[in-house]
Amino acid sequence: MRKASQNAWGLPLPPGPPRMPLVGNLFQMPQVDPWIVYNDWAKKYGDITYLEVLGQRIVVLNSVKSIANILEKKAVNTSERLWMPVFDLLKLDWSFPFMNYTPFWKAHRKHFHQHLGPMQMEIYRPIIEDQTLKYLRALVKNPHDFRLQTRSWLGLTFMRLSYGINDAQWNENLIVKAQAVNQGFSEAAIAGRYLVNSIPLLRHVPAWVPGAGWRKRLEAVGELSREVSRVPFKQAKEQVDLGKVDEDISLVRRLVDDLPPETHPSYEERATIARNVAAIGYIAGADTTLSALYGLIIALAMHPEVMAKAQNEMDTVVGADRLPQPEDYERLPFVQAVVKESTRWHTVGPFALPHVSKKDEVYEGYFIPAGTAFLPNTWAVMHDPERFPDPMSFKPERYLKDGKLNKELLDPEFGIFGYGRRMCPGRFLAKDIILAHFAMCMISLFNIKPGRDEHGKEIPLEYKVASEVICTPAPYQVEVRPRSAKHATLIG
Ligand code: HEM
Repeated sequence: MRKASQNAWGLPLPPGPPRMPLVGNLFQMPQVDPWIVYNDWAKKYGDITYLEVLGQRIVVLNSVKSIANILEKKAVNTSERLWMPVFDLLKLDWSFPFMNYTPFWKAHRKHFHQHLGPMQMEIYRPIIEDQTLKYLRALVKNPHDFRLQTRSWLGLTFMRLSYGINDAQWNENLIVKAQAVNQGFSEAAIAGRYLVNSIPLLRHVPAWVPGAGWRKRLEAVGELSREVSRVPFKQAKEQVDLGKVDEDISLVRRLVDDLPPETHPSYEERATIARNVAAIGYIAGADTTLSALYGLIIALAMHPEVMAKAQNEMDTVVGADRLPQPEDYERLPFVQAVVKESTRWHTVGPFALPHVSKKDEVYEGYFIPAGTAFLPNTWAVMHDPERFPDPMSFKPERYLKDGKLNKELLDPEFGIFGYGRRMCPGRFLAKDIILAHFAMCMISLFNIKPGRDEHGKEIPLEYKVASEVICTPAPYQVEVRPRSAKHATLIG
């Protein structure tokens, strides 16, 4: 095999911390807040930092410039994915976020976009509004249970929107399984957690071999993965075929309506794509969106002065006689600034998902071999003190200029949804429909305060995240109560 440092141009690899033979930088890989460590390394080694872990080449991209140049301008070459051996055991081959940049992946994106693109959002509004109203009522009844209620609302909304089955029990059963798949993935993806990622041959060790209990656990998650990608689609399709459907239009109904006749040569492939597209909504969308909502609420609870200002804007623009409507959002610059600032301040995916190159690449005089995994340090971009002075503070005002949104400041939408051709295709649903609607309802209808202990003393709020692929604010307690009896009446 050609060595990483050999290339026809005789160019050097990008700079990075010194590597040990065979293991490379394995023992220097940060386990806690890696985004901060990489950002510090960037000060020493420069904007792009080269690392190697057990033969896997990694380039961390620490600025808007390198991310845009490598993941966007060179996207044709840098849109592959890293397939980890553990994914075989988790049976994630149906999941298009992990597929390489192939025509099959493109077909998934195309169908996803056709049904969940910006022009399609109105179609799903009835389901979202119905589920949201149920959620707001549940919050009124359970003022201390914000996190659980929110998780349940999002899960039920995604499942109903995907499969069109308006049966809470059916959806909850499915959520438990899909959640186990997400959990299995998050754990398995942590570098160094499973030896099988470093020694792929281990995936052939049978589960009954003593000491191979890890394999049994992963295989059990793999079974669930197969089940959530197939069974609900089959059941929902049967309902559609029998004409027994939720009166509100779901993703499956639209995907099934679009399928060619079963006798058509492309039927099998199209049905597989439809199944995979329906199944990805919850898997890719629930935890990410939930993390963003948890981030927004802890930010508001920790900053009562921001909440008061946002409520004031809601009162002026919407008033207290009706629920906020989607079209109100445009007329709420401060609320929009709050949402933008919360997604900057709490960066849900600090490294997006790794992009991988297909061919050798040359960037600013450095050689980057084929197969390199690029980690865009979105956290560093969102906390760059040059762009966002005092970046650790939550200051929505930074997005405003003369009372309007400041278009000169980098919009967190560059970054939080990833980059180039792999950019999150669920962003329209996440930001325009769920996040915007949620923010307006929570701000206008509720007061959000830190929770209290058994002596009635406020429990101080602390914003902390674990170092995972999707960073969710660590458990915190808040009290969410309607602002007045009139506000409670609006919820019904
Ligand atoms: C606030 C909520 C969300 C955030 C922050 C988020 C963020 C991301 C990020 C960072 C990526 C990786 C992009 C890259 O590799 O450059 C991604 C990919 C993806 N997201 Fe989202 N996402 C959110 C919500 C959703 C929702 C609601 C859905 C589905 C309905 C969804 C579906 C997907 C899919 C299918 C991919 C894989 C795209 C591909 O590899 O081609 N996401 N998302």
